[in-house]
Amino acid sequence: MNNPLCHVRYLCIETGIQLNVTDNNTLAVIEINSPPVNAISQQLRAELLILFQSLASQDLHSVLLTCTGRTFVAGADIKEMDTEPLEPHLPELIATIVRFPKPVIAALHGTVLGGGLELALACDYRLAVSKTKLGLPEVNLGIIPGAGGTLRLMNLIGVKAAIEFACTGKPQNADEWLNTALIHKLVHKGDLTEQALSFCRQLTLTESKQNTEADFSIQGQYIDWDSTEKRVKRLAKGVEAPALLLNEIKAIYSLGLSFEHALKRQRRLFLQLRDSDQAKALRYAFFTEKKNQKLATSTSSTRTINTVGVVGAGNMGVGIARCFIDAGMDLIWIEQTEEALLRGMDNLRKGYQSKITKGHMTEQDLDDKMQLVKGSTVYDRLAPCDLVVEAAFEDLEVKKIIFKALDQHCKDSAILATNTSYLDINSIAKVTSRPDQVVGLHFFSPAHVMKLIEIVRAENTADDVIKTMLALGVKLRKYPVEVGVCFGFAANRMYTRYGREIQQMLLEGNSIVAIDEAMTSFGMAMGPLTVQDLSGIDIGYQARAKQADKPYDLGYFRPSASMVENGRLGRKTQAGFYQYLASGEKVESQEAQLLVDNEAKKLSIIPHRLTAEAIQQRAMLALVSEGLLIIDEGIVNDISLLDIIWLHGYGFPRFKGGPMYWGAKLGCADIDEKLQLLRHQYSADIWPEVTLSNLK
Ligand code: 3HC
Repeated sequence: MNNPLCHVRYLCIETGIQLNVTDNNTLAVIEINSPPVNAISQQLRAELLILFQSLASQDLHSVLLTCTGRTFVAGADIKEMDTEPLEPHLPELIATIVRFPKPVIAALHGTVLGGGLELALACDYRLAVSKTKLGLPEVNLGIIPGAGGTLRLMNLIGVKAAIEFACTGKPQNADEWLNTALIHKLVHKGDLTEQALSFCRQLTLTESKQNTEADFSIQGQYIDWDSTEKRVKRLAKGVEAPALLLNEIKAIYSLGLSFEHALKRQRRLFLQLRDSDQAKALRYAFFTEKKNQKLATSTSSTRTINTVGVVGAGNMGVGIARCFIDAGMDLIWIEQTEEALLRGMDNLRKGYQSKITKGHMTEQDLDDKMQLVKGSTVYDRLAPCDLVVEAAFEDLEVKKIIFKALDQHCKDSAILATNTSYLDINSIAKVTSRPDQVVGLHFFSPAHVMKLIEIVRAENTADDVIKTMLALGVKLRKYPVEVGVCFGFAANRMYTRYGREIQQMLLEGNSIVAIDEAMTSFGMAMGPLTVQDLSGIDIGYQARAKQADKPYDLGYFRPSASMVENGRLGRKTQAGFYQYLASGEKVESQEAQLLVDNEAKKLSIIPHRLTAEAIQQRAMLALVSEGLLIIDEGIVNDISLLDIIWLHGYGFPRFKGGPMYWGAKLGCADIDEKLQLLRHQYSADIWPEVTLSNLK
């Protein structure tokens, strides 16, 4: 605090809490300075509690609670959630603030989340810097607000709005809550603390103290519980916490419980969920993502990428172009013909137009974005590019021709990247005079939506090129994962192995529907055979044809091959593993099932029907086995990256952490036993020996 009238009364080095007093010792300012996000740890709770307890007996006018750094408290310290809860608990601190004899004012900025918002709600008044984010994201971690945040919001802004905050976990803009009991003043410019101090000084003692607990009143609002429950469940994507919280809210509402009683119930549920498997997996996913992003941005030895070139304006090219434009980068877009280029531009514009229709963007935003793009049919125009991404047809010879041209026309320092999903990048790099600057940038379709990006290190790719691409991945708001060269790299290679096991289970007499249902009930966003229909069964078929040196693959993939050979390519032909009605609705297909059964007969496969749980386990074991092989071969150097790949590339249920986390939870001994059994039943070719100790 820079106020010359202030006197520092207290400073705790460990927690960074500082107490200042001003205005003739009548205004106390508590400042939390606990980087990076002022997460409220046990130590911080203990310090704050002591401070409020000792200030209670002082002759004060009011207390201001504020934070330094990038944000107000962004939540309880998630790191502490894997250990026993330690006193003082957050509800105790909050109760002390609520009962504090003088008004307490919270000055908010940044991301006021979870326990941070609960802390702010305990205060009597809240000021916020414009655009501060307020949220109760606990459900994203498989828990519910544990310190009465939901109840206080119900009281302050109504049950409906509180449900939106607490059951969806989506943060909201503070500006939208100005002049409600949630936000009393917005700060558009100037110093937040200074303005909060003047706000405190203007408070008159008669109107100053609020009491959300004694005045707890939530009746009188119509809630359509059935449709709310449906929506909450749909958004939860299999996480149980949101629906459980909604149930609690409904009970509190319909039984007319007191604040105290309701708080006890919610605290009990919070503690129960905190130790659940879902919450543990979600915390693992949270910290794994953070670790990866930190690693990707932790190096300074990266090159500057200002202008990017994209070669190809097909579906992938459009999505990739959009990623760079959305990151505000200048783009030079190359296609073979004017017609193809215009088509690409048109599709790009259409994509943005649908955002405008939904009110997520303005015409001016679109104009600004299109200003960043310059299209051309000549490679010379790529001269200023720091990076060029090739997104042409998936054919090695085509790519080699393009890379020769790129090498010729791009400046010496330009990085040349290919978006291939299977092809050998080493042989692409060799046609250039700069193999050290050739790298794979494997985007997933649709590129502007999917968060995963594989950064493929070829034999000669320079370290700083990899680091630059990792940092670029974060800039594009994606999860970049470094992988080595092999057929399908890490992601598609694991996906192929998963698909192969699915096909084998089909051949063993497990129906199309049974397999899809087993995997969706496991939590996968879509059944594997529905996914094939959606992406086109012929795509995988053609890719596998290039890998014909592994004969067992062909046997394995006979169900898919049979679909292709019978013109059932998936949704695009209204027939694949399922039939598609004119309305787009998917229905079971006896014809498709018959084709699968015939293949099984031809291959003399002994039927082996499995329960849903056994189907799930076989599919997961295939992933774990391939993942461990990838680690053994050094294609990926950190096993948790394989979980990121599945969480962000293939709709793996976040509440299960990822396939490798799933394996680690089952334990090495159990996995070993199961893999040995499969090795014995099938072959060591399909279920090879792997280093199980890597599973951790
Ligand atoms: N606890 C512990 N560490 C946290 C944390 C938290 N609540 N929130 C963020 N961090 C850490 C991150 O792990 C990261 O650590 P690192 O530097 O060692 O990798 C660091 O803070 C910075 O985080 P980000 O890289 O994510 O920074 P951003 O600026 O991109 O985002 C954020 C900041 C929006 C606060 C984001 O980190 C976030 O969403 N955090 C989680 C917030 C949350 O879920 N809060 C609720 C917690 S549960 C709770 O409060 C229960 C209560 O009801 C009792």
